[in-house]
Amino acid sequence: MLNVGIVGASGYAGEELDKILSRHPKVNLTYLAATSAKENSRIRAFSPQEAVTLCDLLFFALPHTEAMKFIPQILATGRRIVDLGADYRLKNIAEYETWYKAKHLDKQNVMLSVYGLPEAYRKKIKKANLIANPGCYPTVVILALLPLLKKKIIGLGSIVIDAKSGLSGAGRKSVEAGLSEDLKDNFRPYKVNYHQHMPEINQELSKFSGRKISVNFVPHLLPIFRGLLATIYVKTASERAVSEERIRQLYKNFYRNEVFVRIADEGRIPQVKDVSGTNFCDIGIFYHKKNKMLVIVSAIDNLLKGAAGQAVQNMNLMYGFKETDGLI
Ligand SMILES: NC(=O)c1ccc[n+]([C@@H]2O[C@H](COP(=O)([O-])OP(=O)(O)OC[C@H]3O[C@@H](n4cnc5c(N)ncnc54)[C@H](OP(=O)(O)O)[C@@H]3O)[C@@H](O)[C@H]2O)c1
Repeated sequence: MLNVGIVGASGYAGEELDKILSRHPKVNLTYLAATSAKENSRIRAFSPQEAVTLCDLLFFALPHTEAMKFIPQILATGRRIVDLGADYRLKNIAEYETWYKAKHLDKQNVMLSVYGLPEAYRKKIKKANLIANPGCYPTVVILALLPLLKKKIIGLGSIVIDAKSGLSGAGRKSVEAGLSEDLKDNFRPYKVNYHQHMPEINQELSKFSGRKISVNFVPHLLPIFRGLLATIYVKTASERAVSEERIRQLYKNFYRNEVFVRIADEGRIPQVKDVSGTNFCDIGIFYHKKNKMLVIVSAIDNLLKGAAGQAVQNMNLMYGFKETDGLI
């Protein structure tokens, strides 16, 4: 059995990790920590020294800029880490410092970390000591666009991403500070054109397409607790004739060995309800022939495929467990 721990166990993502790891057949959950100990709970105040004596692998689910304060010393002891935060996702340090408004404290390990999207980096993940678990929006968007980018079917200049998230995406502190009240009978965009997940999406899409991509990305907050859905508009490359069915088949083929990506059949539209509480990503394809406009609808649970579920999927790969262990 593998001994694992959660740092940030009292947060929304940490709580989901606790649930999954407590029922996982191959691990002992030996350590749960947060800033301070919680009353009537297994959660204690975080101590890196204690964490390394009790765990082989640690999940970090801390607000950005916190994890990088501890990760270097823990990695140096030979422990492996899955970081759910943003500190190791952007390979360009200057970009990290601009978007997260903080000096990066561990540039060396940024270069060694592996972006933890199993559908794209499975081989590298297996050998990694540090996983940068993707953000929730990047997960839903990259999975939706990967087959198109690899097959060069779309024009890259005008990718429009209209994404909506349940309020748990903002973390417990924001919700408890009044976000749920603000969203009662309400719905609104936020950080229009300046959400910090935009450079992460651009980084990964550019890597897969071999060209510099700059997406238009507008996130919204929904008055629901969990779930994330993106509607993505892309023009097909004009000289190519495409059909909706051909593209659907391309997606089915591309993801044929992926347990957690489901391509909707014709007439079915992905919805939050179908993925909530699961590690699935549901993707639907719709084509407006006259306008040569492809509409991709992609849905996940932000707390699972967008955070804790994907983190456990990564751990399963790192240790040669069944990829679905604890998740299905
Ligand atoms: N929520 C999502 O849908 C989602 C999706 C993908 C990725 N993520 C990422 O996952 C991370 C956690 O998100 P969340 O939504 O779970 O946040 P959250 O609800 O705000 O929880 C944050 C957790 O971190 C702990 N913490 C903060 N500073 C700490 C420190 N210095 N030492 C030890 N513990 C510390 C908090 O403990 P105390 O309560 O004791 O302060 C709490 O347990 C973030 O980086 C977030 O961007 C979240």
